[in-house]
Amino acid sequence: EFIKEVSGFSVLEQSVKDKLHVDHVVVVPGNSDELDWVKQEMGKAAVDFLRSILHANQTIAVTGGTSMAAVAEMMTPLERAENCMFVPARGGLGERVENQANTICAEMAKKANGEYRLLYVPDPLSEESYQSIIGEPSVKEILHLIKQADVVIHGIGDAWTMAQRRKASGKILQRISDGNAVSEAFGYYFNQTGDVIHKVRTVGLQLEDLDNSQCVVAVAGGKSKAQAIISYFKQGKSNVLVTDEGAAKELIRD
Ligand code: BG6
Repeated sequence: EFIKEVSGFSVLEQSVKDKLHVDHVVVVPGNSDELDWVKQEMGKAAVDFLRSILHANQTIAVTGGTSMAAVAEMMTPLERAENCMFVPARGGLGERVENQANTICAEMAKKANGEYRLLYVPDPLSEESYQSIIGEPSVKEILHLIKQADVVIHGIGDAWTMAQRRKASGKILQRISDGNAVSEAFGYYFNQTGDVIHKVRTVGLQLEDLDNSQCVVAVAGGKSKAQAIISYFKQGKSNVLVTDEGAAKELIRD
């Protein structure tokens, strides 16, 4: 507590908590837009947080993205959480392999000495394939695990950045721009007031399922993501934020 006071971050963390109405906020020094190692520090802080809350036999759902990749990179064995199961939150969302939830989930599980299950779904998915895929017994089984996850850990992106990174079609880019989307998480795009503007069709966790998890942890930083973080938290679906000083200072401004 004393060390936290000295660093001054407890004040910043409290301000972010008040602004976003969340239970717990961790701020690491620096701005990850400018320095790569700041993202790794967020990853480390997220691992420390997970270590403090996880119990044996729990299921953890994880999304993709570079912030989650940093969490996987910094993961170490979770002594108190024996027999934990890592699952990807949603199927492919148009990300490159290294940014996909499946890849990140497997790496996290290995480093944590946990188990993992993967979701193999084509991407993008037509309505017809979607209906037949969710009927497959092997997919049903993992969907059941995902929807009952005790802990969810995810990234938050800037809407436009994510749509482009995923090579969204012109029609979808139009929808995102007409709807003034600001943020993206789990394949959902949100506007400034937190309304869903567009949703990528894939199997896995739906926004409503987050209400069943006792702990939903967002890991997102960088000054450029401040507005996206504010927009995403308008839904009130996550109760923990691990971020950096760059985003934190920007998001409490006004
Ligand atoms: C994606 C998640 O893979 O990563 C998104 O599915 C999130 O929900 C995004 O917005 C964030 O990516 P990054 O690289 O900014 O951490």
